[in-house]
Amino acid sequence: MRLGVNIDHVATLRQARYREERETWGGMIEPDPVDLAKNAIKGGADGITLHLREDRRHIQDEDLLRMKKEISHPLNLEMACNLEMLDIALRVKPDNVCLVPEGREEVTTEGGLNIIAREKQVVSVLNTLLQNQITVSLFIDPDEEQIKQAKKLKCPFIELNTGRFSQAFYKCGMMDEWQRLFSGAVLGNELGIKINAGHGINYENIAEIIKIPYLYELNIGHSIISRAMWEGMSNAVARMKKLCLKHEKGLVF
Ligand code: PXP
Repeated sequence: MRLGVNIDHVATLRQARYREERETWGGMIEPDPVDLAKNAIKGGADGITLHLREDRRHIQDEDLLRMKKEISHPLNLEMACNLEMLDIALRVKPDNVCLVPEGREEVTTEGGLNIIAREKQVVSVLNTLLQNQITVSLFIDPDEEQIKQAKKLKCPFIELNTGRFSQAFYKCGMMDEWQRLFSGAVLGNELGIKINAGHGINYENIAEIIKIPYLYELNIGHSIISRAMWEGMSNAVARMKKLCLKHEKGLVF
């Protein structure tokens, strides 16, 4: 199972200080998401994920350009499904685009993209990206109807939203959410869709996530960036990667 490291929160920290002063500061601007991405790769990351939000609250356009230039590992751009972002993706050409919903008030992505309600926009953005040799995944909740819709739209990948599972992990209801992910992965696989998963995965709940079959890649940000403050980025990634590999070695079945 591959590990994509989401680097957004490195930029969140940088923006906390340099949002206004970036152009005029003159000195070192830290932390640098590109440097941290390089360290994540040293630790075993298979790819780097970043979300260019419409309000540019963390990752900036320049980060994306530098990431594309300086990182040779696959780049996964999370973005809202609209023409502004499509235009950027076509210019930068990341390896993969993950279409996500975006609410201006949310702290982080909440809930999957409703690809039934937003079929028209999704079809147009998805097909344009695919025609330009950019792979696409749709970040959706593990609902039967959404997964079948991804098949109907001929999208090669889905990313199952593990957010509700991770919220339920320390409460009752965890098994129900796990079961939804399990059934979603089985259905996606039957339909021939490649399956990623992400949102809220941490060093504890990953023990349950890796029991879900057919997962191709996990995208993990917050917990790895948090752990990196204690033990450095490459160690934090290596620790998570080791947990992911238990999946591959069949240690959990
Ligand atoms: N996948 C998607 C689609 C996301 O929007 C996010 C959060 O940006 C993640 C994965 C990573 O979530 P977390 O930071 O909770 O690990």
